[in-house]
Amino acid sequence: MRKIGIIGTGHVGLVTGACFAKLGNRVICVDSDITKIEKLKKCIVPFYEPGLEELVKKQTTDKNLRFSHSMDELVSSSEIIFICVGTPSNLDGRADLSYVEQASIQIAESLNKIKNEKSKMNNYRLIVEKSTVPVLTGQWVKRTIELVAPTGVNFDLAANPEFLREGNAIRDFFHPDRIIVGVENKRAQHIFKELYRPIKAPIIFTDVKSAEIIKHASNSFLSMKISYINAISQICEKVGADVEMIAEGMGADRRIGKDFLRAGIGYGGSCFPKDIRAFISIAEELGYEFGLLKEVEKINNQQKNIVIKKARDLLWNLREKVVGILGLSFKPGTDDIRESPSIGIIQLLLDEGCVVKCYDPRAMENMKRLIPDIHYGKDVYDTAEGSHLLIFATEWDEFKNLDFKKILRLMRTPYIIDGRNFLDARYLKSIGFTYSGIGRRV
Ligand SMILES: NC(=O)c1ccc[n+]([C@@H]2O[C@H](COP(=O)([O-])OP(=O)(O)OC[C@H]3O[C@@H](n4cnc5c(N)ncnc54)[C@H](O)[C@@H]3O)[C@@H](O)[C@H]2O)c1
Repeated sequence: MRKIGIIGTGHVGLVTGACFAKLGNRVICVDSDITKIEKLKKCIVPFYEPGLEELVKKQTTDKNLRFSHSMDELVSSSEIIFICVGTPSNLDGRADLSYVEQASIQIAESLNKIKNEKSKMNNYRLIVEKSTVPVLTGQWVKRTIELVAPTGVNFDLAANPEFLREGNAIRDFFHPDRIIVGVENKRAQHIFKELYRPIKAPIIFTDVKSAEIIKHASNSFLSMKISYINAISQICEKVGADVEMIAEGMGADRRIGKDFLRAGIGYGGSCFPKDIRAFISIAEELGYEFGLLKEVEKINNQQKNIVIKKARDLLWNLREKVVGILGLSFKPGTDDIRESPSIGIIQLLLDEGCVVKCYDPRAMENMKRLIPDIHYGKDVYDTAEGSHLLIFATEWDEFKNLDFKKILRLMRTPYIIDGRNFLDARYLKSIGFTYSGIGRRV
């Protein structure tokens, strides 16, 4: 049993905290957002993640997990401190590391307060970057803590980047492909070995800088696969070939693999877009122009325009045409709309003068806060009613088995754009829809 502190109770921090608690550790979580902590004290999880609320309830009741407003309490009672704060994009694409800096200063100030206390715990702390950060951030965190707490503070810094996927986060915590840990010495390595002993996955130990790069390089590589297949889908559209067959043929080669070879309206979310921008920026700061990744970004941004072109091809003029968007979250299983392709598509349609209606099983409230002045349907059928065109932007399971004959009767014109290539195109065509996928031959 370890005493663990989690700074930041977003997707990563809360899942990490609750899962470490389930493994029998004593976990305390803080967040600078007071209302979030108040909610969590009542076991209300402020975002949707399957199974998380139940886990938080159970671990809180079992007294393995607690929430606090006090960083002093966290630092004094935790041997291992995970920094799980956000690292959003600055306007120029660099990672905004101000939350990481703030957390480092707060840790150091609290360490200052306790260093002279004769506490039961020794005053060694393992401070861990779990947030996704550009290479060399660890050096800055270390330097910041040493500046604020210059003497008598005994700590190691480590990097343990997170690879969980929203919608699958708890499973990913307990069954990761691998655990990446960047350490500076054997002492920290030993603690991580103990901490992750219950998880049956290889731990890859590296230095801190390499661990930081592994996270950016992995997310950029996956984004590259998506943009690559999206580029191929454009060639398919020009010659009438089928991107799905091509992805199957390519993916059967073990060196390539079939994952992340799904053509569509592009990647989004709180990670891929910002991580790629941050990786390009840090490379540039270090004197390397990452042209490959710039092209990945460019292709991804173009995918939204391809949807608008398809809408024009189907409807001719878009002004005053009613378009239903089904799926607002950046992927199924989450209510997260950060950098969701739906946002860009809605904006482009509004610019064209369309009337936009939307529906999502989970993400409506978040989208209403961002774009309040459009119509939000009660369900798919309500959204389809009176629409000239439906655009499927997220491949939610519940969209796979809809009553499409009913949808056809409700719509003004029978047009579907399948932005995720997940619908049964032949069936839709057979009942009278004009179907348009991304690089998919029907
Ligand atoms: N969301 C994902 O799927 C995912 C997956 C892997 C890695 N990551 C990375 O993990 C990090 C966190 O992501 P997230 O999605 O959980 O972010 P998030 O924005 O949902 O949560 C971050 C939390 O940190 C809190 N916070 C900020 N500064 C603080 C401070 N000084 N003290 C206490 N709390 C503070 C915020 O209030 C917020 O609740 C990011 O670097 C992200 O790139 C995210």
